[in-house]
Amino acid sequence: MGMSPIYGHADRGESIATIHAALDAGVTLLDTGDFYGMGHNEMLIGEALRSAPAAARERALTSVKFGALRTVDGGFSGIDGRPAAVKNFVAYSLQRLGVDHIDVYRIARVDPAVPVEETVGAIAELVDSGYVRHIGLSEVGAETIRRAAATAPIVDLQIEYSLISRGIEREILPTLRELGIGVTAYGVLSRGLISGHWSPDRKVAANDFRAHSPRFSGDNLRHNLGLVETLREIAREREASVAQLAIAWVLARGEEIVPLVGARTRERLGEALGALDVTLDADDLAAIERAVPADAAAGDRYGAEQMAMLDSEK
Ligand SMILES: NC(=O)c1ccc[n+]([C@@H]2O[C@H](COP(=O)([O-])OP(=O)(O)OC[C@H]3O[C@@H](n4cnc5c(N)ncnc54)[C@H](OP(=O)(O)O)[C@@H]3O)[C@@H](O)[C@H]2O)c1
Repeated sequence: MGMSPIYGHADRGESIATIHAALDAGVTLLDTGDFYGMGHNEMLIGEALRSAPAAARERALTSVKFGALRTVDGGFSGIDGRPAAVKNFVAYSLQRLGVDHIDVYRIARVDPAVPVEETVGAIAELVDSGYVRHIGLSEVGAETIRRAAATAPIVDLQIEYSLISRGIEREILPTLRELGIGVTAYGVLSRGLISGHWSPDRKVAANDFRAHSPRFSGDNLRHNLGLVETLREIAREREASVAQLAIAWVLARGEEIVPLVGARTRERLGEALGALDVTLDADDLAAIERAVPADAAAGDRYGAEQMAMLDSEK
């Protein structure tokens, strides 16, 4: 996502080099959305896959979100989960990615005007016809998970989960575990906020998501960066970086939880991959919990309008 304009400028050559380096290092899951840069991100991944060694290309799995409607000026104008729209979205995505199937296909946000059974049912038809391998969900709550899983097999839920976004632990995670559904956790670095690289004086462009995020603003930012400083101490003792500690924490939460790390440069990727060498024992996890208790963050994870679109927050 960050390789298409949402966190400010991203360099195309560096983006492709980063995807190649990730595949080379054994990363297999590439997540995108057809609305990230209005097709830009899928075309970027398509180009990276075409120019990657055949073995790496064959190992790569694509996870695609659809449904968000865009406007010419870059705004968002709603969500479309009607079955006919699903079949239309997938045709364009296959073309842009240059693949004959998508490994995991999911609607980004539930369309309030369309029962989830209809949207999931349409993806299930795409599974039957071979254009999609698995059905995923994104940012939905326990009741919707149950309704979707009663319609067709669901492989995973993509949802924000990090040291400072732990809402899924109450009801969503137990439901997923009961139903045998995995998690792809996004925002494990809270969009850079808990990466250890953010500073209060960092300049953010007006079109950067973080310019409007409650957690990155004013007193909330000061409070949240204070939490990062407590993590920095723990990280230093483990000879890890703050970002590595935050990723390792998500990795330690369960085998069925796959962190989606939004690295967009080879440097950041290299740091993120270093998290695989950080093993946190019970004492480490307790120290982290004391430093950053479950509800420690200040500010919602999205602005009010976007929060209202989250089935997972209802
Ligand atoms: N389903 C959904 O609703 C949803 C929502 C959002 C995202 N996602 C998916 O989740 C993916 C990850 O989300 P995200 O990019 O917001 O999460 P993230 O990994 O929490 O944040 C990535 C940002 O953190 C900063 N960063 C600092 N150190 C880093 C390091 N060592 N490795 C990686 N990043 C580092 C980078 O910003 P700088 O480059 O500016 O330093 C980067 O852009 C997205 O690409 C998207 O596919 C899904």
